[in-house]
Amino acid sequence: MCGIVGYVGPKQAYDYLIEGLFRLEYRGYDSAGVALQQAGQIDVRKKTGRVSQLAELVKVQPVTGNAGIGHTRWATHGEPSDANSHPHVGGNGEVVLVHNGVIENYALLRDKLTELGYVFRSATDTEVAAHLIAHQLEEETKLGSDPTLAETCIQAVEKAIKKIKGTYGLAILFRDVPGLLVAARLGSPLVVGIGKGEYYLASDASPLVGHTEEVVYLNDHEIAVITADQFQLRHQNGGSNAKHIKVLEQAAVDTDLGEFEHYMLKEIFEQPTSIENALRGRLDDDEATAVFGGLNMDPQKLRCIDRIVLTACGTSWHSALVGEYLIEEFARIPVEVEYASELRYRNPPMTDRTMVFAITQSGETADTLAAMRECKRKGHPTLAICNTVGSTIAREADGGIYLHAGPEIGVASTKAFTSQVTVLTLLALFMGRMRNLSYPAGKRIISHLREMPDKIRQTLKCYDAVKEVARKYYTAENFLYMGRLYNFPVALEGALKLKEISYIHAEGYPAAEMKHGPIALIDEDTPSVFIAPRCGIYPKVMSNLQEVKARRGPVIAIACEGDDKIADLADDVIYVPDVDEYLQPLVTSIPLQLLSYEIAILRGCNVDRPRNLAKSVTVE
Ligand code: M6R
Repeated sequence: MCGIVGYVGPKQAYDYLIEGLFRLEYRGYDSAGVALQQAGQIDVRKKTGRVSQLAELVKVQPVTGNAGIGHTRWATHGEPSDANSHPHVGGNGEVVLVHNGVIENYALLRDKLTELGYVFRSATDTEVAAHLIAHQLEEETKLGSDPTLAETCIQAVEKAIKKIKGTYGLAILFRDVPGLLVAARLGSPLVVGIGKGEYYLASDASPLVGHTEEVVYLNDHEIAVITADQFQLRHQNGGSNAKHIKVLEQAAVDTDLGEFEHYMLKEIFEQPTSIENALRGRLDDDEATAVFGGLNMDPQKLRCIDRIVLTACGTSWHSALVGEYLIEEFARIPVEVEYASELRYRNPPMTDRTMVFAITQSGETADTLAAMRECKRKGHPTLAICNTVGSTIAREADGGIYLHAGPEIGVASTKAFTSQVTVLTLLALFMGRMRNLSYPAGKRIISHLREMPDKIRQTLKCYDAVKEVARKYYTAENFLYMGRLYNFPVALEGALKLKEISYIHAEGYPAAEMKHGPIALIDEDTPSVFIAPRCGIYPKVMSNLQEVKARRGPVIAIACEGDDKIADLADDVIYVPDVDEYLQPLVTSIPLQLLSYEIAILRGCNVDRPRNLAKSVTVE
């Protein structure tokens, strides 16, 4: 989490910094701050709350300077407060820095530095890095062996970061070396944008859009030494590293809300288009299969895959569960779905022919990245299903499939989920057609996939019905979500959406599991959402629904248009178009997204910036 920006050049740094922080706010919005260097001093402005509050502060207390750093925080160590906001000052003000990541040995370092006389003003782990660098700088200066002060500062950083255990993306200014910006990366992404006589720094490429098209992504253990007229890349153990300049592929960030009040709602309504984009150019009618440009694996090798691991977090993990059902059904390849946070430390048996997919909207989720690296290290082909072009996971994967869903700004993931499910359907078709899936079956899947954007358009017409249901139930304190087969992951996803933006306790279950425990929760005040479109086991789902009704639990059913019978059983019904079972998650997830949105609005919650969350979870 946390967003970092930096600038060195002829312009006023603040303009880029504040614009960049607005763009990075999805990474955390507990507090924000900037530090600007000018005339032998560094001025810091920082404030609890949103970037807009920082901007207000700077209007009253302006800052100027041609070199600067900025930060938007998602609190890990220390509550959101002005004191805990970044930038943090080291020593007597000779070092000022911002940090993304977690310094695991901060308590030990803090004790040592306190003994040495350093005074801590915050409860953060980050302040340790500031004092540590300041201390190292003092030590280096005492040695007096280096030619310039700038070089001494860089060496102080190199030595200090070796003492840090954990993860960091650091951007550092030095009071006594005007125009020097040093950045260091281990585990937390940083990218340098190359301008004409100026350089930009950011946690991801979004702040750079519109400023430059040439970027260099830092690798772990690299240090960027940046001044207005040059930028060097070094390895933290010494020696310079080659700079691999990439062309920024991102379009300007679409932050226009248009007719919508919130990004989440806008993104829900974008789904006909985002699904169209996920399908574009990937349907091969002649061969009745899917085509992907970036898998980077030869067909022989793909044909020999005997196991697939799908690893992800949160909503992306739910789409992986749908993927498991799809791939096993169409391609008959055993699939394991692993929480990335578990997989990174587990040691599950994996055959030599196991292929791994990391599924992620942001491409920056720390656990997903670590799980992917672990699988790569073991020699497995490791691919990404990712939305964010140029993200760390997209760059480090051996190959992959982009979602092309466009930027997802609302913290609650919506369009990324349906795009992931669409891409996983394509993948199942592709792997299936390499094995036992027949030509006519492939053709049928393609023609049904083509219909999906229109089906989603039709589904969105349920919004008025959803609003009514939301008005009826928004005061409930507990919800259950139940579905079976392809709609079981949808139940999990529906419950997650409600939890994260309306703060209502919600559980998702496979409907038949209910009688093994959760049925004890059913009472008149606990609505159960049954995802019950027509399917092979529809009568069984109906029995589960009856079990809830028998215990006087209110039932909201998500059902197929034309299903009149369910209206006699459920208290409320939201209808969606009838589609093949394996495509149902694409339509049944949409009323659940809308329901959580409407309930959150009625409860007065901030749907786009829910409490305690951040869009991109870049710490462990
Ligand atoms: O960017 P990723 O897909 O890797 O993110 C994974 C989760 O953090 C994310 O899906 C999270 O659960 C969302 N807030 C859910 O709406």
